[in-house]
Amino acid sequence: MTIEAVDYTTKIPNNVNLAEDRQVLRALEGWHPGYIDWWMDMGPEGFQQAEVYLRTAISVDPKGWAKFDYVKMPDYRWGILLAPKEEGRTIPFGRHYGEPAWQDVPGEYRAMLRRLVVIQGDTEPASVEQQRHLGKTAPSLYDLRNVFQVNVEEGRHLWAMVYILQKYFGRDGREEAAELLQRRSGDADKPRMLGAFNEATPDWLSFHMFTFFTDRDGKMQLESLAQSGFDPLSRTCRFMLTEEAHHMFVGETGVGRTIQRTCEAMKEAGIEDPNDVEKIRALGVIDLPTMRRKLNLHYSLSLDLFGSEMSTNAANTFTAGLKGRFQETKIQDDHRLEKATYPVLKLVDGEIRRVDEPALTAINMRLRDDYAADCQRGLDRWNKIIDKVGVGFKFELPHVGFNRKIGEFKDAHVSPAGKLIDDAAWQREQGQWLPSKDDGDFIASLMKPVTEPGKFASWIAPPRVGIDNKPGDFEYVKIAA
Ligand SMILES: [Fe+2]
Ligand SMILES: [Fe+2]
Repeated sequence: MTIEAVDYTTKIPNNVNLAEDRQVLRALEGWHPGYIDWWMDMGPEGFQQAEVYLRTAISVDPKGWAKFDYVKMPDYRWGILLAPKEEGRTIPFGRHYGEPAWQDVPGEYRAMLRRLVVIQGDTEPASVEQQRHLGKTAPSLYDLRNVFQVNVEEGRHLWAMVYILQKYFGRDGREEAAELLQRRSGDADKPRMLGAFNEATPDWLSFHMFTFFTDRDGKMQLESLAQSGFDPLSRTCRFMLTEEAHHMFVGETGVGRTIQRTCEAMKEAGIEDPNDVEKIRALGVIDLPTMRRKLNLHYSLSLDLFGSEMSTNAANTFTAGLKGRFQETKIQDDHRLEKATYPVLKLVDGEIRRVDEPALTAINMRLRDDYAADCQRGLDRWNKIIDKVGVGFKFELPHVGFNRKIGEFKDAHVSPAGKLIDDAAWQREQGQWLPSKDDGDFIASLMKPVTEPGKFASWIAPPRVGIDNKPGDFEYVKIAA
């Protein structure tokens, strides 16, 4: 592997030799002002002049790729960074299995590939838009810094996809790049492309659930694109995954700290029953049943992002060698899947059953299964926190058929336990399973900003260690007067 140094002398830091790629440099420089306008309009509201202790990627060497320093967000060095090129890399799956990876767009797959890049690209700015009001109610300077870190990196991920579009797709790539700055999360006329990215992120529990569940969908998509036979896409996604790990960390520890604070407050107050909601809420913490409803919502919205269980589109992008499976190169099979089957959950004669289907058309289902297993590991760690404090409560992932808008279960009502129920039962019970307006109002009532270094809101525990090993009272954000 060769690690190309990152060039910081150009306006756009990069390790793709932009200085000598005049045409692409010009296209990116042309796009830059529109990006900054978008960031000022749709990025974190009210904190553009604040000094934020951020990490910036300065290398793609896994051993030391980032540095930390105070930066005003609009001055963040958004760059184009690709993971090192692997000499002799071959296409790891599909019809072209074993052939040399493509360094240019294969003509026959051009439209399919562009679509994959645009869909991934669209999610990146969407989440920044969804999270733009959160700064005003941050539970601490530590958390404030974390949301901004996630935001600037999602911005960089947009740059990453725009680079691919502008370098490899000519004029229509430039048009797509421009449109990525025009769509808006939740907009009636020009919404973002995927459902979960048009939902509101009204409070910090939603934000932490979103980074746990929805950014994790992003991780799975990036993992499968990192397998791509189109090498520039593979390399850009591989580097994005190093940043993405922090987003998962923010979500998992954010929810974990919320759980911990609630359990500790219950213990201190001598409350044993996690369903004693009124008393628990009076302590200024979020009761576990409310967190369960939020979990149910965010998990089910994120499952929809995987698309239909059975999909010819997914089969085509796999066979073409454009989008693989999670950890494709570690799977022991022929990587072509022409004769293989995969068990798919389906509705058959009024029952939920596993049915063997062609593995190629079940690619989405497989990725979703890998995602569910990854989520479960996080839940296990949350449950350990509850156990340790000694509260009798357990988080579980709801059944994959629960509350779905896309795929096999979209017209069925399925309880979190996986029972098919009728419309009347759904109407009667759903209030126990999904967050109510009252839940939202209660959470909103706790969202009061805490801006004194080292202090935290009543509903969330401090982190165990600081970012970049900073001490507990470190001033992660210097809010401009
Ligand atoms: Fe991202
Ligand atoms: Fe992310």
